[in-house]
This record gives sequence, C-alpha cells and structure tokens, in this order.
Amino acid sequence: MNWTRASRLPLIQQLLRTGHADFCEILIDNFFLVPPVEVRRALGDVPVAFHIMHSRFLERDDTTLAAMASRLRLLARELKPLYISDHLLRFTVEGREVPLLPELEYGHVYEHARQRVGLWQEMLGTQVYFENYPSLLEIGRDQPAFFEALVADTGMGVLFDLSNAICAWRNCGVKPDAWARLLPGVKHFHAGGYDVLPEPSTAFDTHGGELAGDTLQLMQETLAQARQATTLCIERDRDVGFEAWSRDLVAAREWGGRHAH
Ligand SMILES: [Fe+2]
Repeated sequence: MNWTRASRLPLIQQLLRTGHADFCEILIDNFFLVPPVEVRRALGDVPVAFHIMHSRFLERDDTTLAAMASRLRLLARELKPLYISDHLLRFTVEGREVPLLPELEYGHVYEHARQRVGLWQEMLGTQVYFENYPSLLEIGRDQPAFFEALVADTGMGVLFDLSNAICAWRNCGVKPDAWARLLPGVKHFHAGGYDVLPEPSTAFDTHGGELAGDTLQLMQETLAQARQATTLCIERDRDVGFEAWSRDLVAAREWGGRHAH
C-alpha cells in the first residue's frame, strides 16, 4: 500500500497488523524532514520503498536538486527502501504552474530527459524507477518507446503502473502489449482505481474506487510473465478506509498471485 501522509498512520498500521499489506511505499515528499527512526518506529521492520512526486528533477536547478538528493540519500541509508521511484512529467508549461501535471512531449525532450535521468540517478547514488504516465492525449503513443530508449541509455528502472497503462489504452489506444519488451524485466508494480468522465470519455488515474476488472485482468496476465516481479503497491488516495482498501488488497492477492512464479 502507499502511505501518503502522517494522519493515515493508524490505518496503515491496521492493514499491516491484519496481514492485508506486507510492504509500504512511502510518498517521501511528505516525510522529508521526519527523522527516519520515527518512520521505523511507526512501521516496524516492514519493507518500504520511496515514491517521489515533486522532485521536479527535469526542471529544477542543480544546486537545489543536489540538496534534495543529499537528504534522500540519508533517508535511504537509514530506511533501506526496496526502490526509489519518481515520475517523468512536467510541472510547468512555458514557466507557468499547471494544476494537472502534463505528459512529456516525448518526441521533443528525449536528450534532455536522458541527461536529467542520468544526473538524478548519479545524485541519488542508485538506480531510479520511473512510473509510466496515464496518458490522455495522442502523445501517449510514444511513451513505451521513450521508456525503452531511456532504460537502454541510462539504466533506469521502470515502475509499471497497471491502471495507468489501462488509462492510456482507453484514452489513446496504447495497448498494454506495447510495453511487452520491457515488462518481463519489471520488478515493481502499482495499481489503483481510476475514474471515467464522459464526453469525451476520459479515464483519469485517481486512486479512488475499487480496482477495475480490466486492471485486475492485466495484473493477472502481466505478473504471470514478469519474471522478476518483487512488489505490487495498491494505491488509494480517495475513499480511504479499512474496508475499501483491504478489499483491494485481497483482490490484488487473488488476481496477482494466481499465476505468479
Ligand atoms: Fe502509480
């Protein structure tokens, strides 16, 4: 499960205690200044991972990024995350902050992304796993090839979000098998609920509501062939409660584990 804020700690602890979850992905932005010993005291010795949302590593100046990396390295030294993950997306358009973080225009930014991914991994002193975007527009068709090239050129990892891949399929027709060359080597996965808004019908990655049937189906097929699969994080950011989340986790174990190696 994903732990996004301190106030959810009682629920996170309950899901661990009841055995529904056995791994916790921390939205590390919101725990940046929390002493790692406090995080460990809260979670016990459960395996953790770091998910970074706002590094803005594609846009931020190197000095600030280096300061951020130094804190993240300290947190990683203490908490020993299974992976550190981040996002390949934009936060500004022509200098202006935008509310919905836009997808990269893959055809125009490859060289910049290659350099920044390399730099960010070097600063963090580790491989970083980048999550696929829940594409809305035509440009999403270029995403799988962009990821493939970056994996080859930078050695980055892929955090494959199954429901994001479903959103991209629904919105711009990128079939999940467009990822077929990368998937067998993927170790870390996400899945969450998505919402579909009408006219024009658009799927948004909201982490609200239960896991959809097509997400569970893709989970089953993908995990069956992911030879190195290690973690699956079920993300919930809306209607967050024990009943709903534990139902998601039970469904994921049933579908994800059905043909697991
Ligand atoms: Fe995700």
